[in-house]
Amino acid sequence: MKLIGPFRQVVTLADLPLRGKLSDEQLEIIVDGGILVHNDRIQQIGNYEVLKSEHQNIEIETIEGEQIVLPAFVDSHTHICFGGNRANDFAMRNAGKTYLEIAESGGGIWSSVQHTREASEEELLKTLLERIDFLISLGITTIEVKSGYGLDLENELKMLRMIKKAQQHTKAALVPTCLSAHLKPRDFDGSNEDYLQYIISEILPKVKEENLADRVDIFIEKSAFQPEESKNFLLKAKALGFRLTVHADQFTPGSSRIAVEAGAQSADHLEATIDEDIAFLAQSDTVATALPGASLGLGEKFTPARKLLDAGAIVAIASDWNPGSAPMGNLITQASVLATFEKLTTAEVLAGITFRSAFALGLEDRGRLEKNMKADFVTFKTDNFQNVLYNQGSLKAENVYINGEKY
Ligand code: NIG
Ligand code: FE
Repeated sequence: MKLIGPFRQVVTLADLPLRGKLSDEQLEIIVDGGILVHNDRIQQIGNYEVLKSEHQNIEIETIEGEQIVLPAFVDSHTHICFGGNRANDFAMRNAGKTYLEIAESGGGIWSSVQHTREASEEELLKTLLERIDFLISLGITTIEVKSGYGLDLENELKMLRMIKKAQQHTKAALVPTCLSAHLKPRDFDGSNEDYLQYIISEILPKVKEENLADRVDIFIEKSAFQPEESKNFLLKAKALGFRLTVHADQFTPGSSRIAVEAGAQSADHLEATIDEDIAFLAQSDTVATALPGASLGLGEKFTPARKLLDAGAIVAIASDWNPGSAPMGNLITQASVLATFEKLTTAEVLAGITFRSAFALGLEDRGRLEKNMKADFVTFKTDNFQNVLYNQGSLKAENVYINGEKY
């Protein structure tokens, strides 16, 4: 057993509801608190001096200076396994070039597919681990990572194998997701439906056999996969035992409905979701995930997080870190900016990057500082937790703890 503290404030996020709006008055803040850790779990949270007197002869890890502590963050949507970069896409987009012009000059998702296919396993693993380290430095200790830049059996497996290998080199918890249905690759000979069937019959059985991922994602959009074929695909993947998530309503509405109907864990993006579908999402257990990094990367509107919360949806916020639409990777900056534009309370933002995003991944043992939860937390050198979002990402995490150990 180990006691860590004292912290000026311990923001526990205990007892907050999974869905709907939150006010900051609902936040439990323990002043001069401590965290008692047993193995990789939280044993008790309380006043530091009280905990110290109640537990004699235990290891004490003293926190110097004024620090606050929050549950570590969970990034439930990333594409951080990729080769190359798309700085030229970004520059062209900002110079007013269209999607088509960018694709024709060698950009777009297809260019990341080419670079990822060309990359060696060592290169992919190295850059993936560097990005994981950056996320950990922000206080993120659970990270979802998608495939989707391989788009054939060999290269999708290469990506997923590197994600699995990365897990052996990092203490952060990685949650792999198979996104072979990102786009029909240009070199596939057949229709969209043929390609989706190829994923079902050729890729997913291998993914299962090698235990590479138990979640499947699809990009439903005019430029990618159409609603009907996507729904069939999702139901087949589900029948194979995969959990589901969907890239939904990014530019055109309609697909968040499919995510809900298929029983997906989350519907992500939702920038274009219409009011009727907000109500539909709000009545489901499908988490509505805002990806402000994609809005910032593309200059598109933000996910209507305020409306979703008011309607009672479970709202998470994730980085969508990818080489094309969301190159920043700083979830704290993005969540803070989303809060400003969408008028979200601090409690709603913190919930969205902790226990609500954990729920989107089916993980209910993290994201709150409570007994028996995973002992993952992040400290900041400040006397007021509000400074974390107020500084819009420029207040760096002081220490990140994973499984009760300082990282
Ligand atoms: O989540 N929307 C589709 N997929 C990614 C972007 C992928 C890319 O541009 O490389 C996204 O934004
Ligand atoms: Fe994405």
